[in-house]
Amino acid sequence: MDPRSQIIVALDCDDRAAADAVVEQLGGECRFYKVGLELLTAAGPEFVKDLVTQGKEVFLDLKLFEIPNSVSGAVRVAGALGVSMLTVHGMGGSSIMSAAIEAACHFPGLRILALTVVTSMTDTDLNDIGVSDSVDKQVLRLARLAQEAGCHGVIASPQDVTALRSILGPDALIVTPGVSLPGESPADHARPGTPRAAIAAGASHVVVGRTVTRAADPAAAFRLVRASLAP
Ligand code: C5P
Repeated sequence: MDPRSQIIVALDCDDRAAADAVVEQLGGECRFYKVGLELLTAAGPEFVKDLVTQGKEVFLDLKLFEIPNSVSGAVRVAGALGVSMLTVHGMGGSSIMSAAIEAACHFPGLRILALTVVTSMTDTDLNDIGVSDSVDKQVLRLARLAQEAGCHGVIASPQDVTALRSILGPDALIVTPGVSLPGESPADHARPGTPRAAIAAGASHVVVGRTVTRAADPAAAFRLVRASLAP
């Protein structure tokens, strides 16, 4: 696969002008953007539509965790925007993941990804909410549940990719945030890894945010990430 199709740049901005500036600086280099709750709330669905109109793929990171009827509604609206990936919380269980899949089947280009355990959570946090398994075990349990519900893949920390690829098989999408280039400070990445290591372990895509968007020259930073993935 062309490394450019494997790199998703996270536009974690709180206003549209900042996001537009990054998209313009990256130009044709970057094909795939992640829009999360911060930018969606600031810039609205028009921004997403405009990215799609420009020929970009969009990963809409809504992390849905709602009653199945509301999840279906949100998936239908996101599908109509033309996004390619959408996230739902695996912790919400089979019924909301199945509702998302059912709603997504009207949009052939839309992939539903399950978020297993958010990377900021520890074994203690899980224990506090009544989950006695470790984070590692819970990630695998929710990934299996997501696959049974028909999800197209999961979001995974770099360190979970190998185990997930072995249980999910070759076709599942494994999208990996929390990556930084070698030598770069891992910021707040709890279980970090490099883009290259994540792809080598079996990730289908990596999500790169501040490494690119906060760089003095975002296009040069994007090219560094791309070069790091070259065979
Ligand atoms: O850290 P970075 O700026 O590369 O983050 C890009 C995206 O990765 C964020 O939008 C966030 O959703 C996700 N992320 C994560 N876990 C972390 C750090 C970031 O899931 N520890």
